[in-house]
Amino acid sequence: MDTVTDMLTIPSVTGIAVGCTAVAIVVALWYLITHPSNHSDQPNHLPTVPVVPGVPLLGNLLQLKEKKPYKTFTRWADTYGPIYSIRTGATSMVVVSSNEIAKEAFVTRFQSISTRVLSKALKVLTADKTMVAMSDYDDYHKTIKRHILTSFLGPNAQKKHRVHRDIMMENMSYQLHAFVQNSPEEEVDLRKIFQSELFGLAMRQTMGKDVESLYVEDLKITMNRDEIFQVLVVDPMMGAIDVDWRDFFPYLKWVPNKKFENTIQNMYIRREAVMKALIKEHEKRIASGEKLNSYIDYLLSEAQTLTDLQLLMSLWEPIIESSDTTMVSTEWAMYELAKNPKIQDRLYRDIQSVCGTDKVTEEHISQLPYITAIFHETLRRHSPVPIIPLRHVREDTILGGYHVPAGTELAVNIYGCNMEKTVWENPEEWNPERFMKENETIDFQRTMAFGGGKRMCAGSLQAMLISCIGIGRMVQEFEWKLKDNAQEDVNTIGLTTQMLRPLRALIKPRKS
Ligand code: HEM
Repeated sequence: MDTVTDMLTIPSVTGIAVGCTAVAIVVALWYLITHPSNHSDQPNHLPTVPVVPGVPLLGNLLQLKEKKPYKTFTRWADTYGPIYSIRTGATSMVVVSSNEIAKEAFVTRFQSISTRVLSKALKVLTADKTMVAMSDYDDYHKTIKRHILTSFLGPNAQKKHRVHRDIMMENMSYQLHAFVQNSPEEEVDLRKIFQSELFGLAMRQTMGKDVESLYVEDLKITMNRDEIFQVLVVDPMMGAIDVDWRDFFPYLKWVPNKKFENTIQNMYIRREAVMKALIKEHEKRIASGEKLNSYIDYLLSEAQTLTDLQLLMSLWEPIIESSDTTMVSTEWAMYELAKNPKIQDRLYRDIQSVCGTDKVTEEHISQLPYITAIFHETLRRHSPVPIIPLRHVREDTILGGYHVPAGTELAVNIYGCNMEKTVWENPEEWNPERFMKENETIDFQRTMAFGGGKRMCAGSLQAMLISCIGIGRMVQEFEWKLKDNAQEDVNTIGLTTQMLRPLRALIKPRKS
């Protein structure tokens, strides 16, 4: 993401207050009176979903001002149960915080819950659903998902891209060693190194080459790598959670919100300009006969029916998806390992006995179940995408034994599912042993961190390979420690659950 996600956008209270004029409120009241909730007239005789009480007009919006809706949703699940409904302005939303009901939504009821209604920001930034993760489940979705799996993210394609991942691991190791040599007493900022390397990997896989600088014709400027990263990854991630209060009150769409529109439009224009410049550069390379193992080479030869915009969006999508969520899960794993020396030691001993003096590679993963357990437990405790991008219920359906009417939005609260006390013992505790039980297969369904069913994350294999080998190499080569006075810090920020304060750890090279 994904991500692409916590695409659930919750507005700031100030934003609403500024926007609501007296006239608007009158119109809103009129709308609510003339559009009564359809909860009471469901055709079958199933009960309606329990409701979290809110206030007229705003519904539950004011209760969501914490800006971490997954936490609020989880608290509400303790009171209202694993499925309940809330109102975000004029929209009715069902929130699911149970693994079982989530699976029912992803698989059994998929036909009724496979599309999306996008916020205003997402409509612009996704070029109106021109990307796999945000499209409806339609022919376009199926075609692009097939392309991306065939040439990029599926098991065979990942074998072909192995060289790119190996380069990434070597670069990361080199940079960590260089850091210790230059500043042995200082704490390393892993995010800075890992994120930059992930971006390099994304560029090599997508465009064939990493980028150092780029002349952007449409903007008449030359951008350095950090500026390119900002435009392609950071800005759209922020834009995706930017709130236009009119999303919650569609009947007020006529009220202008120019500042918001300009910000998002500007992000769109700059991203388009940079992507166009990158594509042009690579078209020149391809025309000169230089062929590389990259997604652009594949799309230009195998997907010629794509429009220019579809090509641009198909290339941008994996760049943003590669550059964030895998970093989030790996950073959390290293934080937990630095905080739990006994678990780190156990992993180190396992690596020693399996790899000896060889470096950890993808071939070792099957013999190192503890790494996989650490990866899964990190996804459970710190789900990078805590709420699945909202799904739209397009026809009346049933979930958890309740009637869910057409027109409802569905939020699957993955964080809440992974905090279910009836499923996980001491869910707050980070404990990889949960995934080391004999005779239990570990699959992605246990945590659902990658979603499920036909819309499951296409990049789960890549994320697992990079995260597991990254963790393995970092523990094999260094001892990781938090400073003695470091506080417990599990606060998060942003679209995905990035650590609010980047991990700072003391690292000491191990004796080889
Ligand atoms: C730890 C890392 C990652 C996590 C936790 C994650 C999580 C997710 C989640 C929760 C979804 C939404 C599924 C749904 O709507 O039901 C998703 C979709 C998607 N992700 Fe990921 N993701 C990760 C890494 C990646 C990477 C590295 C890529 C590609 C380079 C990627 C590409 C996609 C795509 C293309 C979709 C859309 C799938 C569809 O709608 O059919 N993800 N991801």
